[in-house]
Amino acid sequence: MPEPVARTQNGRIAVLTIDNPPVNGLGAEVRRGLDREVKAALADAGTAAVVIAGRGKMLSAGADIREFGKPQQEPILPKVLAVIEDAAKPVVAAIHGHALGGGLELTLACHYRVAAAGTRVALPEVTLGIVPGAGGTQRLPRLAGVKTALELMTTGEMVPVKRAQALGIVDEVVDGDVVEAAVKFAEDLLAKGAKPRRTRDRDDKLAEARATPNLIAEFRQGLKRSARGQESPFAVVDCVEAALAKPFDEGMAFERATFQRLVGSDQAAALRHAFFAEREAAKVKDVPEDTPAAPIKRGAVLGLGTMGAGIAICFANAGIPVRVLETSQDLLDKGLARIRGTYAGMVERKRLDQAEMDRRMALVAGTTQMADLADCDAVVEAVFEDMALKKEIFAKLDAACPTAAIIATNTSSLDVDAIAAATKRPERVIGMHFFSPANVMRLVETVRGKKTSPATIAATMALDKKLGKVAALVGVCDSFVGNRMYYAYQRQANFSLEEGALPQQVDKAMQDFGFPMGPFATGDLAGVDVGWRIRKQRAAQRAAQGLPPDPRRYSPIADRIAEMGRYGQKTGAGWYRYEKGGRAPMPDPEIEKLILTVSQEKGIARRSFTDQEIVERCMFPLVNEGAKILEEGIAQRASDIDVVWLFGYGFPRWRGGPMYWADRIGLDKVYATMSRLYANDKDWCEPAPLLAKLAREGKKFADV
Ligand code: 3HC
Ligand code: NAI
Repeated sequence: MPEPVARTQNGRIAVLTIDNPPVNGLGAEVRRGLDREVKAALADAGTAAVVIAGRGKMLSAGADIREFGKPQQEPILPKVLAVIEDAAKPVVAAIHGHALGGGLELTLACHYRVAAAGTRVALPEVTLGIVPGAGGTQRLPRLAGVKTALELMTTGEMVPVKRAQALGIVDEVVDGDVVEAAVKFAEDLLAKGAKPRRTRDRDDKLAEARATPNLIAEFRQGLKRSARGQESPFAVVDCVEAALAKPFDEGMAFERATFQRLVGSDQAAALRHAFFAEREAAKVKDVPEDTPAAPIKRGAVLGLGTMGAGIAICFANAGIPVRVLETSQDLLDKGLARIRGTYAGMVERKRLDQAEMDRRMALVAGTTQMADLADCDAVVEAVFEDMALKKEIFAKLDAACPTAAIIATNTSSLDVDAIAAATKRPERVIGMHFFSPANVMRLVETVRGKKTSPATIAATMALDKKLGKVAALVGVCDSFVGNRMYYAYQRQANFSLEEGALPQQVDKAMQDFGFPMGPFATGDLAGVDVGWRIRKQRAAQRAAQGLPPDPRRYSPIADRIAEMGRYGQKTGAGWYRYEKGGRAPMPDPEIEKLILTVSQEKGIARRSFTDQEIVERCMFPLVNEGAKILEEGIAQRASDIDVVWLFGYGFPRWRGGPMYWADRIGLDKVYATMSRLYANDKDWCEPAPLLAKLAREGKKFADV
C-alpha cells in the first residue's frame, strides 16, 4: 500500500503530499500519516518550513464521510491540526481543485495559504447535518469575519478562489504549479524571517463583531425562515457565538462537543444517505462504468415552449451548441425571446454578466427546418403532450438526424416504447424527463425504454451530468416515478378535504413536515387547469373506446375549481385567492363553502384531522406507490426514488427521501396504517405486496 501522506524534501522545505484517491478524504490512515510526517518535518534539523499539498484532482474533500457514525479512530483531526498550527516552523498550504470541510480546516490551521486559480473552497458540513469539527467554526470567523463565516458555514456555499482571497481566507492565488508556488512562498517567508502566523491568535475580526451586539441574534432569526426544520445551521451559530465569547481552546471544545452530538443525529444520518444516494443513482446495474459513451458535442431541442426553452438554456449553460426548432418563425422568435428574457433576468439579478449572457446566447441557433438537425449528436423533443404528434415527429427526426444521434423525449406521461417504435433506431431513443423550470430543477428522470441500448443510457446519463443535472434512471410506466407517486399523495390530500380538512391545514402540515409548499399551494403554482385538462382528455378517451367512466373513488373538488375559471396563481385565484400580482396564498371562504358542499353531496360526516394524521395520510400512500415501483423494477433501488423526490419535488433533504424516511419509521408501522386506510379505500390504498413482505420480515426498502 502506498503511504497516504508522503514527505519529500525541496531544499529547506519539506513537502507533505496527501495521496488518497479519489478525493483525498482525511480518513484515519491519512490523519495518522499527516501527524507522523508533520512531527518528523518539525523534528528534522534540515527543514525550515513545511508545505502541505494534495495529489490528484484536489487538495482534499474533507473528512471521510464513511467513517461518520462509527467509533472514532485516533488521532482525531483537531489534534493533528493543533500540531500544525502550533508548529515553530512556518507551514504553508498549497491548495488546488477543492478544499472542502476538513480539507479547508486543514488549511486554516496552516500559517499561510497559496491556491491555484480555479480552486473552490467551502465548509459544507451543514449539508451533512453537522458542524465543521476541526476548528472551522473557530478559525474561519477569525479570518473572514463573523458575518461572512456564518453565511458560508450555514449554507455550505462553494467559494471561488478569487473571492476567498478577497475575504482573507487565501493569501495568494497563482497560475501554474501550486506546489512550486507554495515552496517559493515558503522560501520568501524564510528570507524575510517571517514567523508562523497562527489563526487562533487573531482577534481583530472577532472584536469587530463584538462591537455589533445584535449580529448573532439577528442571524439566528433569519435562519428560522431559511433553515426551517434543520438543526445544524443553528448549531453553527452556537459555535460561532462560542468563538466570540470564549478563549480559543474552550471554543474548540464547544465545537467538538457540538460536532459529536450532531454526527449521531437522525438528520445527519438522513443527509449522509442523501449524499451517497445521489452518487449511487449515477450507477446503472447493467451498464458498466466503462461502457463507451460518445460525448454530446451538439444538441438540439424541438419545441420552444415552457420546457424546451429551459432545456435549451441547460445546453447553453453547459457550453454545448444547441439548435432549437419551432413550427413557425413567429413561434421561434417567441421561444428565443423567452430564452433571452431568462438570461436578462439573471443579468439583472447579477447572477450573470452581460458578456457571459452573450456567449451563451451565441450557442443557441434557431431554425424551422428539420434538415438543420443533420449535425447534432442528441435531440430533446419537447412538443405538446400528444402521442400522435410525438410519433410523427420521431419518424421525421429519425430521417433527419445522423444515425448515431440520440433522440430523447421530454414526455411526462407517454409510453416511450411506443414513441421509439416510430423510428428505426429504438435503441437510440430514451426519455429525458426534465422538471419545470427545466433550467432550475436539478432532476432528470432518464427513462429507459425496452430497447434503449446501454451505450445510449451511458451517453445520456453523462449528458445529464454535463448539463448540471442529477439523473435517476427509471423504466417506462404511466407518469414514471415522481409524478406517479405524487398523484397518490395529491389524491389523498384531496380526499382529506372531503372528510374534514381544509387546504390551508393540509398545506401547513406538509410544510411543517419540510416541503417548501403544500399540495394545494403547489397546485395553484402549477395551474389547477393542467390536471383538469388531462382528466377530461382521459375520460374522453375512455368514452371513445366505449368504456364506462372510471369507477374508482374520485374527488371532484379540483375540477369544480378549474370550472370556476380559478386556474391558480396565473388567474389570481385557485385553491386560494391572491392579491393582484401577489404570490401569497390566502384562504378563501368560497373554496371552504365548495368543500363543505362536496362533503355534503357525498354524505360524508366531516371530522377533524391532526397534522400527523394528514402527513401519514398523504405520505404513506406515496411510499406505498414507491414500493410498487420498486417491485415492478421501474426504479433500480429505493435510494433512486429518494433522489427523484429530493431533486424534483423539494422533499426535505434532512429526512433523506420518502423511502428512507419510511425505513426509519419502520415499515411495519407504514404497513399497519396502509391496511387501515385500505379498509376505507379499496380503490387506492391496497398495501403493496413488497411493503407487506418487508414489514412481515422486519426489513427495509434499503434491503431490497
Ligand atoms: N468522504 C468519503 N467519500 C467521498 C467524500 C468524502 N468527503 N467526498 C467524495 N467522496 C466519494 C464519493 O462518494 C464518490 O464515491 P464513488 O465513486 O464510490 O461513488 C467519489 O468520492 C467521487 O465523488 P463525486 O462523485 O462526488 O465526485 P465529483 O468530482 O463530482 O465531486 C467533490 C467531488 C466536489 C469533492 C464532491 O465529492 C463533494 O462535494 N464531496 C463532499 C465534500 C464534503 O461534504 N466535505 C465535508 C466532509 S465533512 C468534514 O469534513 C467534517 C470535518 O469538519 C471534520
Ligand atoms: P408548451 O405548450 O409550453 O410548448 C410546446 C411547444 O412545442 C410549443 O411552443 C409548440 O409550438 C411546439 N411545437 C408543437 N409542435 C411542434 C413541432 N412539430 N415542431 C416543433 N415544435 C413544435 O408545452 P410544455 O409545457 O413545454 O411541454 C412540452 C413537453 O414537456 C410535453 O411533452 C410535456 O408533457 C412535457 N413536460 C412538461 C412539463 C411542464 O411542467 N410543463 C414538465 C415536464 C415535462
